[in-house]
Amino acid sequence: MTIQEIYDLALNRGMKADPRGEAGVKRYLARMQKEYEALPKEEQVYFEKTKLVDPYADSFIHFVANAKVPVKRVLAGIDIDSGEIFLADRLNEREKKIDLVIGHHPIGRALVDLAEVMDLQVEVLESYGVPTHVAENLMQERMSQVDRNIHVGNQYQVVDIARLLGVSVINTHTLTDNLVEEYLNGLVKARKPHTVGDVLKILDEQPEYQQAKREGTGPKLLFGKPSNRAGKVMTEMTGGTNPGDRMYEELSKAGVSTIVSMHLNEKSLELAKKSFMNVIISGHMSSDSLGMNLFLDELEKKGIEIVPCSGLMRASRRKK
Ligand SMILES: [Fe+2]
Repeated sequence: MTIQEIYDLALNRGMKADPRGEAGVKRYLARMQKEYEALPKEEQVYFEKTKLVDPYADSFIHFVANAKVPVKRVLAGIDIDSGEIFLADRLNEREKKIDLVIGHHPIGRALVDLAEVMDLQVEVLESYGVPTHVAENLMQERMSQVDRNIHVGNQYQVVDIARLLGVSVINTHTLTDNLVEEYLNGLVKARKPHTVGDVLKILDEQPEYQQAKREGTGPKLLFGKPSNRAGKVMTEMTGGTNPGDRMYEELSKAGVSTIVSMHLNEKSLELAKKSFMNVIISGHMSSDSLGMNLFLDELEKKGIEIVPCSGLMRASRRKK
């Protein structure tokens, strides 16, 4: 597979698992097309054209050293920093040829545009019963906050190093977060957990959460008791980053009793607690790993070797 084919595979899987459904994804892409066409000609040159066919602005092909070379081995990690790019270069010297580095969290252009993917959360929140106007306004507020925070940074530092060393690099963020969301949400729907403890049991069966437990970063029940009724359970795994503090109160009002989130900040936790929600933190690296693994399994199936790094808890679900 070439790098483009690898990215397209992730894109296809991510779109199939998108919580908005196929129609929602199409609607979003049509909106992008309209926004592009509405721009004055002199501004259109600055528009990132991949956004017309790829609804995940936080995932991107950053640098390709050779577009034709078939990829045989990838270095895959959660956070790709300068260290991982140097690691790929060092492994190349040791004849463990790395053809591509695949990161999860956004860098470069994908980092710049992270806030854009958060729009999908409006539909997710609606599906849990939050009124559209509340979901939309609170999300828009949160998106501008995330955007402002990113704007101050040095977004292309890692991409610059990759280019200078000739190391190909892509990142797949919401693409694979959609996969972990679909997977865990699917398990919750199929198993219909009665108690909060039953929800925890579902997590505990996954190899990534088992490894996290061994390493001391396993799922945690922050509020509520295992014997509490689980009620309506929300898995919150995709859509860029957390929806913002005030959303938890709204989710509670909408009837969500138990939330399973990768991570939550202190203010959100406080507000979730005030609303008497049961709060399970599944764990950040382990949950990101689960999503990445579902995609990396597909690459492995095509004969590509995966070298895990940077917090990726690699576990394969392929039938041996
Ligand atoms: Fe993450």
